[in-house]
Amino acid sequence: MNCSRFGAIVVKLKHIKYSNVSGLRLFSSTGKHAKVAVLGANGSIGQPLSLLLKMNPLVEELALYDVVHPQGVAADLGHVPTSCDKVTAFGPGEIMGALKDAKIVLCAAGSPRKAGVTREEQFKLNSKVVKELAKSCAVMNPGAIYCIVTNPINSTVPLFCEIFKSAGVLNEAKILGISNLDAMRAGAYIAKEKGWQTSDINCPVVGGHSGSTIIPIISQCKPDPQLSDEQVKLITHEIREAGAEIVAAKKGSGTVALSIAWSAHHFVDALLRAVVSGEKGVVECAYVKSVAVPECKYFSNPIELGVDGVSKNLGLPQLNAYEKYLLTKCIPSLNQHIRAGEESAAQR
Ligand code: LMR
Repeated sequence: MNCSRFGAIVVKLKHIKYSNVSGLRLFSSTGKHAKVAVLGANGSIGQPLSLLLKMNPLVEELALYDVVHPQGVAADLGHVPTSCDKVTAFGPGEIMGALKDAKIVLCAAGSPRKAGVTREEQFKLNSKVVKELAKSCAVMNPGAIYCIVTNPINSTVPLFCEIFKSAGVLNEAKILGISNLDAMRAGAYIAKEKGWQTSDINCPVVGGHSGSTIIPIISQCKPDPQLSDEQVKLITHEIREAGAEIVAAKKGSGTVALSIAWSAHHFVDALLRAVVSGEKGVVECAYVKSVAVPECKYFSNPIELGVDGVSKNLGLPQLNAYEKYLLTKCIPSLNQHIRAGEESAAQR
């Protein structure tokens, strides 16, 4: 750690409370830090995610793993002046170096969705990548907390868990699918509708992260936007289609990257505060082993984060009649995605 030259700024920032503009806090007031690894660091999500992590004051070492030139990303980030001075790069055959001693590992490797490609088709491509990475992780650092960003998380999280189970090292509290992008989008669409600030809105989104498995719980949004049934239906549709819309708007020039990176970093920042700083009452939505919905093995809903990942699954918020209806529609699709993940783990 080398932040002495920023001492005055550290003192000034000491009393600032954590907020959802977490990417802007550059210096730690706790003095405790962790090694964080990014798998797939040279990808379209991996790169902005690595930049945000480099800016996080609770990250002591940022380890970048990719099969394609992670050294370039590390060199690029090396010129960014933040309190995290240690950025290391690991290429093919070197994943051990990235995983060793990492407290938190983000899996962002794989192919992003292209126009016209469904999440199910994307899983065919990404399952091989995630499976190989999960095998390495299970052997080399089974104790880390794993945040799965690689889509489709409805299937990649069950796949990752199954690989850990086969290796006899599964701790479901430590494998979390990053699904808070949907809550972030709910905030954005509600803000647009109401003319509010996005940062003031907290709307839980439960279920999974794909089409009809995404269930915005607008009835529990804080503050209450008091939307009509039509507005709720429209916003639900917009949240579900947001990814495809961005992919289409980029017209083949790219895919969803910045908002996923932001949401993943927001989640990891919350996790770091719980793991490294010991902060209590840190709540985020994540796709994890299901507690609230017994029909599904995995489900996304608010969880409390602690030193070992999920410290408490807070279950489902109260649902109104429309949200209950969405839940009944979500369950069969989500189960299909979960089965696809589990079957893929079982294939040789
Ligand atoms: C999203 O929802 O934006 C991501 O899951 C990326 C995608 O492919 O849609």
